[in-house]
Amino acid sequence: MASKNNATWYKIAENIEEINFSSNGLAELQLNGKTLCIGLFNKQIFACAQKCPHAGGIMANGYIDALGQLVCPLHRYKFNPNTGKNLSGEGYYLKTYLIATREDGVFIRFTNP
Ligand code: FES
Repeated sequence: MASKNNATWYKIAENIEEINFSSNGLAELQLNGKTLCIGLFNKQIFACAQKCPHAGGIMANGYIDALGQLVCPLHRYKFNPNTGKNLSGEGYYLKTYLIATREDGVFIRFTNP
């Protein structure tokens, strides 16, 4: 499904159950040569950059806390996984991607370089 600004919706799975999340609710995904982090919290799926904007921590190795904040494994900075806002006050911004679950599958909106 094409969209504005050279961005395209890519189908990544038939449904959420098909995605192989780790026990921390996170997974990595390859899309057009780029690795992304995807996660699931309270049946809501999100997608963000693979690496933390602070010092490159691998976000899929972190965890989702009880408030639904994505926590980096290296220095425990916290992010809103839907907006990328840094919730622990350090001023960083985690890139996020639109992700949608529909009857015909799970899709991520991704802009090709
Ligand atoms: S690398 Fe993520 S908090 Fe430092």
